Order: sequence, then C-alpha cells, then structure tokens
Amino acid sequence: MPLLIRNGEIVTSDARYRADIYAEDETITRIGKDLEAAPDTEIIDASGKLVFPGFVDPHVHIYLPFMATFAKDTHETASVAALIGGTTSYIEMCCPSRLDDALEGYHLWKSKAEGNSTCDYGFHMAVAKYTAETESQLREIVRDGTSSFKIFLAYKNFFGIEDCELYRALNLARKLGVITTAHCENAELVAQLQQQLLARGNTGPEWHEPSRPESVEALGTHHFATFLENTGASGYVVHLSCERALKAALAAKERGVKLSIEAVTPHLVLDKSYAERPGIEGMKHVMSPPLRDKSNHRVLWNALNTGLIDTVATDHCPFDIEQKLLGKNAFTEIPNGIAGIEDRVNLMFTYGVKRQKLDLHRFVDAASTRAAKIFGLFPRKGTIAVGSDADLVVYDPTYHGTLSASAHHTNNDYNGYEGMEIEGRPAVVTVRGKVQVTDGKFVGERGRGRFLKREPNHFGNS
Ligand code: URP
Ligand code: ZN
Ligand code: ZN
Repeated sequence: MPLLIRNGEIVTSDARYRADIYAEDETITRIGKDLEAAPDTEIIDASGKLVFPGFVDPHVHIYLPFMATFAKDTHETASVAALIGGTTSYIEMCCPSRLDDALEGYHLWKSKAEGNSTCDYGFHMAVAKYTAETESQLREIVRDGTSSFKIFLAYKNFFGIEDCELYRALNLARKLGVITTAHCENAELVAQLQQQLLARGNTGPEWHEPSRPESVEALGTHHFATFLENTGASGYVVHLSCERALKAALAAKERGVKLSIEAVTPHLVLDKSYAERPGIEGMKHVMSPPLRDKSNHRVLWNALNTGLIDTVATDHCPFDIEQKLLGKNAFTEIPNGIAGIEDRVNLMFTYGVKRQKLDLHRFVDAASTRAAKIFGLFPRKGTIAVGSDADLVVYDPTYHGTLSASAHHTNNDYNGYEGMEIEGRPAVVTVRGKVQVTDGKFVGERGRGRFLKREPNHFGNS
C-alpha cells in the first residue's frame, strides 16, 4: 500500500521545508506540495510535526556473550524498542571472542538477527585475533556485505587484540577498503589498575572509573590513531567519552589520519556520580569507557555541535539487576553496559536540541546521516530523498514524558535513564514505507528487518 505523509516539516542534515512525502514499494517516489495519492494510500497527517529520516544507530550490542553472561535483549525485543524510539536501522557489533572461530561467529550473529529484527540491520565484524585463517575469513565476510571491522583495545584475553594482530588487521582493512571501528583504552593498564584497586579493598562500582581513567582512554585513542597513521587504514573511534581522548583523536586528524569519532548517549547525559551510587544503583551505570566527570559534557556537546564528533550511537548493552549483581563483591565482575536503543533520539533532542546545545540539522546528521555515510548506507538510509528507503520519523516536538523501566520496551528490569524528562518523541515511524509505530506503540509487522549489505570503499571520514 502506498504511503503519503502530509503537511509535515521535513528536516534533513542540510534542509528544512514543508512538503508531502509519497512512498511506493518501500521507497520515496515523490516529495512536493499537495501530492495526489492513489485511492488505497495510507495517509498520515504530520501537521505540527517534524519529519526526519529514520535514525541509524551505528553501535549496538544485542547478541553478546560477555563477562560470564549474555546481554539481555534479543533482536525481537531490541528492534521494537529501537523503532519506538525512532531508530529504523542499527549496526550491531558482531563479537566472537579470541577463543571463537570468527567465521562461525559471523554466521551465528547473522542467524540471531535474520527473521527476528524488525529494524534493518548490519554488522561490524570484530577481529579479536589474527590467525592463518583470518584473511580469507574476513574477505568472505566483506564479500557478504559487512564492510567494517571492530577491534578492542580492552578486555584483555577476551576481545582484546595484540598489537601485531592489530597491524595486520588494519593492513587488510586498507587493502579491502573497509573502515575499522575501535574501542580505545589500554587493556594492560586497565588490568593492572583493577588488580591494584581490588588489592586495596576497593571493590564497589565507584572504583570502575578510577580503574579506567581518562588518561588510559586517551592513550588507547592515540595508540589506535598511530596504527592508522602507519598503515594508511581508515578508522572510527567508538564511544569516546572525555576531553583527553577527544584531544588525542583531533590531534591525529590534524596530522591527516583518517578518523571519525562517535559519542554515545550515556556519556552525553550521565556522569560518574551515577556509578558512585551505593550498591546496585551504581552497578547499573557501569560501562566502559566509564561514565566520566560531568565537566566532559560541555566538551562533548560542543564537539558534537561543531561536527568534530561525527555520530551519536547508544552502545546499547542491557544487563539486568541479577546480572549486574555478579559484580557485588568486585567491580571487575560487573557486566559492562547500559541499555538505551529506545532513548537515544529523544535524549539528544531534549538535552541537545531543546537545550540549544545541538543544532537541529546537526542532530539529524549525528543520529542518522553521518553514520549512513561513514558505513556505506547513504543515500538509501540517512536522508529524505526520492529513491531513498521510506524510513521516516514523524516527530512530535511538543510531547512531554519521563523515561522509566515501567514503560520501556527493552528487555531489562531497570532503565539507566530512569526519571529523566523527555521533550519530544516519534509520533509515527515507518520502515521502507510501512507504518511500524504510532504514538509510542508498536503497530506493525515484526521480523521484517533486512540485512544491510554494504559495499567496501566507503571511506566516509571527513
Ligand atoms: O560497557 C560497554 N561499553 N559494554 C559493551 C561492550 C563495549 O565495550 O562496547
Ligand atoms: Zn566498547
Ligand atoms: Zn560497544
């Protein structure tokens, strides 16, 4: 059935205008004033609303065996939560560990999403080791349409890669024309600091941040950038959390390193005082890199607004209370991660756009367009144009609500943003021309998400 979105104000990363949007066979076929519609067309009145391109979350964890447990969401639950929050596509970290076979892992991760995700989805392929099989396996994965890698300079002996392997992985990435995303810390320093803190009897969640200080993240960022510099590969720093790491990344960019930067919602709106709360309340807010001193907020929002930070993702990674309590005797055992796939867009709109820290177009760019460009999805995703997929978010900027586990759709028994006010939410969300959400409720068809094949050679770094 064709779809007509009428009377809305279209906002993309570079334009704002009033027009109708008509979609047939999953794509946008016309944009203009007073469009005629076929008799069987579904008509949405978007008067008083903003119409954004579907939002793209370039960093989520859904299937994730990690820290003696598994992240809580499935693609069924996470994708519906994502859609309710306006995210129509996501890129999941495919994370086999050093002990696993990478290609088997890739097929396992794909099988979890296929037929289950209601969002369109793609993957970043983790390279946790580099063996005799790695090159042929990665070539096969890239041929399959997964054209970005992921490396961890953290989580020693599990996801963490050795420098000799990193060098080889980046050389291959350059040859294949794929971009490498990186978690930037220093695994050895983290391990040493953790042991030192525990030995002194410092076991609570408030010690998580001191075990992974800003200097360690800055070192990891510089380390990754230096490897990019010396291999000519193209990179993307995930979840950059603080001024020191930002300075390291920007210094590398100034030297000509091809590097993009991602911030994530927890680091923009939460701070380390949340993880310093006693007991389980603190544990809920343990993630890596950790929530930082509040003084970093101003720096991150400014860098985001000016485009020095390219994208905002969630790093969605839910663990429930029982799982978080695995770390009740030692902060090093608390599963790392905070959920947020449903809340990213509304938090950015409220605490960025509405608080005048984030330009409206930059909001669309950071939450949709730039990720689509960097990861080879643009212009199919990330914009509103004839020929693009009809992924649309009719957004109500007058809505007022409060984030709460009692109302969210993520499979978790608490919400890390509990009690935070939001000022705006999607009124209607469509994926490839089908209405999937209206007014906070899923009304569509589950499991219709499609694997997003991406071509190599998409060096979207600015
Ligand atoms: O704490 C986090 N970020 N958990 C997910 C794994 C990762 O490092 O991205
Ligand atoms: Zn990470
Ligand atoms: Zn992550």
